[in-house]
Amino acid sequence: MRKKIVAGNWKMNMELAEGVALATGLNKHFLAEPLKNKEVIICTPFIHLGIVSSLLDAPGLTAGAQNCNDHKSGAYTGEISAAMIRSTGARAVIIGHSERRTYYGEDDTLLAAKTAEALRNGLMVIFCCGEVLSEREGGIHFDVVQRQLERGLFFLPEDEFMKCVIAYEPVWAIGTGVTASPAQAQEMHHFIRGLVSKKYGMAVAEETTILYGGSCKASNAAELFANGDVDGGLIGGASLVKEEFCNIVNAL
Ligand code: 13P
Repeated sequence: MRKKIVAGNWKMNMELAEGVALATGLNKHFLAEPLKNKEVIICTPFIHLGIVSSLLDAPGLTAGAQNCNDHKSGAYTGEISAAMIRSTGARAVIIGHSERRTYYGEDDTLLAAKTAEALRNGLMVIFCCGEVLSEREGGIHFDVVQRQLERGLFFLPEDEFMKCVIAYEPVWAIGTGVTASPAQAQEMHHFIRGLVSKKYGMAVAEETTILYGGSCKASNAAELFANGDVDGGLIGGASLVKEEFCNIVNAL
C-alpha cells in the first residue's frame, strides 16, 4: 500500500516564535489524535527547522525543508546543504516547487542535481511538477508535466526513485483560490502514474505517492482525496492555520 501523506509548505511565512507555536500545537494534536496509516510533514523555513524537528515526537509527524543546494558543502554563501537539513532531524525536502522554478530560475538540470544530493543524504524528495495556465489552455499540460518528470526525476534508478513522492501542483491553482477540479486532478495523477509505470513498471507505479497541491483547503480536500490516484496533498496557505490543516489531514 502506498503512503498517504499531507505535507504543509509554510513558504516564507511565520517568524520563529509563531512557527514554533504552530508546530507545538500540531504535535500536541497528533499525540492526542494519532495518525493512522498516514504521514504529516511540515516543511518549514530553514530558520525553524532545527527547533521544529527536535520538538516533534508525535508518531507520523516529521519536518521537512522547502529547498536544498545541489552541492555537498563549501563556498556557497547563503545556501543550505541536504546534509545540514538531515542533521536537524528533518526527513524530507521539497524540490522543484514552481515558485523556485519561476522566481529563482531553477531548471530541470539543477533540480535533478538537487534531487540526487537530497537522496544521497537520506531525505525523502517531494518533487513538484505542474503547468502554468497558458500551457493548460494550449493543451500542452501533459507534455509539460511529462518533461519535468523525465528530466528531473526519471534519471534515478528504481530504488532511489522509490524514495521520492511526486506533487502535482498546477501553477494556476497555487495561492489563487482556484482549485483543480477533482476530475482534473485525477486525470493528471492517473497520467503521472502511467508515466511512472512506463518507466519503472506497474509495481513501482502502484507504490508511488502522488500529492495534489494548489488551493487545497479543508472545504475541498475530501473531494480531491477521494480520487483513486490522489494520495494526499501539498498544502500552502491552509497549512499555516492549525485547525484548517488538521481538518485537511482528517479528510485524508
Ligand atoms: P496554496 O495551498 O497556498 O495554493 O499553495 C500550494 C503550494 O504551492 C504548496 O506547495
